[in-house]
This record gives sequence, structure tokens and C-alpha cells, in this order.
Amino acid sequence: MDPWLTAARDNNLNARWLKVDTETLSLDLTDLEETINEKTKLVAVTLASNAVGTITDIQKISKRAKEVGAILAVDAVHAVPHFAIDRNLIGADIILCSAYKFFGPHVGISIIRKGLFESLEPYKLVPAPTNTPDKLETGTQNHEGIAAIKPAIEFIENLGTGSTRSERIVSGYKAIEDHENELANRIRNGLSAISEVTLYQTPPNILKTPTIAFRVEGVIPTDFCLNLAEEHAIFIADGDFYATTLADKLGLNDKGGWIRAGLAPYNTVEEAEKLVEAVKQVVSQAVKF
Ligand SMILES: Cc1ncc(COP(=O)(O)O)c(C=O)c1O
Repeated sequence: MDPWLTAARDNNLNARWLKVDTETLSLDLTDLEETINEKTKLVAVTLASNAVGTITDIQKISKRAKEVGAILAVDAVHAVPHFAIDRNLIGADIILCSAYKFFGPHVGISIIRKGLFESLEPYKLVPAPTNTPDKLETGTQNHEGIAAIKPAIEFIENLGTGSTRSERIVSGYKAIEDHENELANRIRNGLSAISEVTLYQTPPNILKTPTIAFRVEGVIPTDFCLNLAEEHAIFIADGDFYATTLADKLGLNDKGGWIRAGLAPYNTVEEAEKLVEAVKQVVSQAVKF
């Protein structure tokens, strides 16, 4: 969110926040009408939390943004590895994501509604192109990176079936979701049976990605992850994952944040079970503070 805050400051605009519900780990939409009002120019929201996996109730936010004529910019970086996004369905004017999250190269992607894109005046050299999409690329483009996005999309497409590319991509994502959710549920069930483990996840009625954030009582997340890597050859990350606002609300900023396990289509049931067993062992041997 912080680049939006800088943009607001530079344009003398006020930034307002939707609150986070620390019980459900989701956005509290009770104040939606007051927060997004007739004065609102732009609504910036994430589609899924990269820290705890919560999937945003984007339809409600999108509907409100449309009612007041605000632009809706959606951060889909954590969503794109896990589920298909229909831009028209979510009513987004801008979608931002990164190809490396869906097994592609380190190339940032912005999808901008045509009329809006045409009206944008990005900072650029005078002779640089003024047409879309080139006006956002003032210099030589990352051709090899851009070329490598296509096979990453085809990887997802090849996991699906259907007569059009779009159908195959949506169906490929469905296969990814089914597989990852099955593994995630195994891990969540396994971890919730360990009394020292606290899972940070939404209740069952709120959708989430297969991203499992947890803490172990009395253990610093970094120490835990080091042990898991050194003793069990399992690499999972720890920290705040840049979600410092949520970590702050949960009082975790000075406690090392979360331990976080994420899943990809190539993970297996054996790996999910191995993770749970390894966590059990590390918990039982951990030196508590
Ligand atoms: C939700 C979210 N937004 C933005 C980013 C930053 O994307 P990038 O790594 O392409 O700068 C990340 C990266 O993990 C993310 O998860």
C-alpha cells in the first residue's frame, strides 16, 4: 500500500483505510460505505494476503468503488499462483501481478482498462512512445523476460482441459486449487493437532489460498525455520512478509512475525505429511524462551 500513500501525498489527497478484523484475519467491511465515499478517487486493495492467505471479498469492494466512480486497483501478486482471476467479474480497472509467482520470469505485469490506460500520463522521456502499452516502458524492454511469460501461462493451461485457451487456463487453475487445497488441509489439520502451534487463518466461511501461517509457542520463527531446514531439509520462510500492518495489529512485529508454508502444484502428499512430522519433531526438541 505504501506507494499509494506516497502518490496520495504527492497529489495532496487523503488516504483512508479499511480496518482489519484481527479475529477473522480479513478486511472489516462494516465501514465500507463511509470509507469509500463520493470523494474517493482510487481504491487499492489486495486480492489475497501473502502473509495469511485470506482472499478478499472483492465483489463488495468493487461494487462500492463503482457506485462512487472510483478506480479500483487490485494487487493480485499472491492470488495469481493459486486461482484464476476474471477481470470483468471482479470489476478491476487495474490488476498488478508478477510472473515469477506463476512459475515465470521476474517480470511485473499491469493490466489496465483501456480508457484509463489511454488517459494516464506516466513520467517519460519526450521521444519515448505515447501509445499503450509502450508508454509505461520508457526504455528498452525486457524481451527475454516477456517471452518467458508465455510458457508459464501454457504450463497452467496444460493442466486444464477445454476448447479455448481461456477455458483451459481456468480449468488448469481449478486443478491447481483442488490439489493445493487438499495438501493445505492436510497440513492445517496436522498442525492444529499440535498444542504448541497457533495457526493464523480465516474461519472456514472465508476463502483462503494454500498459505499456512503459524507460530510455535515460545519459539522464535527464524530459529524454527533454521532448524526445519538444517535437520529436515524443509525450507519454509519466516518474518512479516512485508505485511507489517497486519503483523502490527496482531502484536507480532517484535516477535519475528510468522512461520509460513506455501504450496505449489508440484508439491506432493508425502511432502505435506513430511512437513507436519518435521514440525512435530522440531516442536518437541525446541528450546523455548
Ligand atoms: C501481495 C503482494 N504484493 C506485492 C508483492 C511484491 O511483488 P514483487 O516481488 O513482484 O515486487 C508481493 C510479493 O510477494 C506480494 O505477495
